[in-house]
Amino acid sequence: MPEHTVLFTRKLPEAVERRAAHDYRLIANPDDRPPSGDEIVARSQDADAVVCCVADRMTAGVFSRLPARVRIVASFGVGTDHLDLAAAKARGVVVTNTPEVLTDATAEVALLLLLGAARRAYEGQEMLRAGRWTGWTPTQLMGRQLGGKRLGIVGMGRIGQAMARRARGFGVEIHYTDQRRLPPEREEGAVFHPTVEELLPLSELLSLHAPSTPETRHLLDARRLGLLPRGAIVVNSARGDLVEDEALIAALRSGQVGAAGLDVYQGEPAIHPGYRELPNTFLLPHLGSATVETRDAMGFRALDNVDAVLSGRPPPDRVA
Ligand code: DGY
Repeated sequence: MPEHTVLFTRKLPEAVERRAAHDYRLIANPDDRPPSGDEIVARSQDADAVVCCVADRMTAGVFSRLPARVRIVASFGVGTDHLDLAAAKARGVVVTNTPEVLTDATAEVALLLLLGAARRAYEGQEMLRAGRWTGWTPTQLMGRQLGGKRLGIVGMGRIGQAMARRARGFGVEIHYTDQRRLPPEREEGAVFHPTVEELLPLSELLSLHAPSTPETRHLLDARRLGLLPRGAIVVNSARGDLVEDEALIAALRSGQVGAAGLDVYQGEPAIHPGYRELPNTFLLPHLGSATVETRDAMGFRALDNVDAVLSGRPPPDRVA
């Protein structure tokens, strides 16, 4: 009989649940019903570890009421904005995330958003599916080509760098901003700009890869959108609250922003209805890490952290 009990707040991929059920008593969520904070607390009463997800709001109230036997909250995901890390520290529970394993999948989605927005993929899909396509024409749904354009990357961490590598393959020139310049050997020709204000005026294409923090909230507001070259293409695969929705929607309506590719939204899943009404948006429902390979790897990484803490070793991915 396994010694420890692990709670999964949501249904995780089969291979991950199989490993967890082999090594631990697993309290699973087979119906994948999103639990409230109260339900997470109630269901963790017999748990030594909780594996939560980026959609769970792990507030101070939840951390403070977790039973004393819970030693680790392992989040299935890299972002930590849903976790009150200060409250976790105060409660003395270890918190971990799953960095690295979702870098490539998220960069692939950022590139998909960029291509989808630039090449008017939504309008093309709509036309076909609604039976409105009457045949090829020389001027139908002309988009913008990536090759030869400048891509501005806000946040040159792992995912920003992976996006840069992919975009280079399309003949795009890379510019970026971050708190610090990368060591030159890791820039691979990308041009550093010390501020967002300096990056935006040359970003014909713009991709956000910064974490959600009080400093990055509404980083892309009306003033900064006005600094972009007219018709720029904006992509967000990081976090919704980096963008001020009303300002982006106004910019998409006026043509200041030519098109936007979005995978994440402030207040998701209740997205701003303005995005749905616009033809020049290419929208995905937070699919950045949603590949079989990556979701398995995220689950295994979360379990590696659980294994470490429950066997008295330091976890590889501690964030609190
Ligand atoms: C994360 O891990 O933070 C992602 O948003 C999940 O896809």
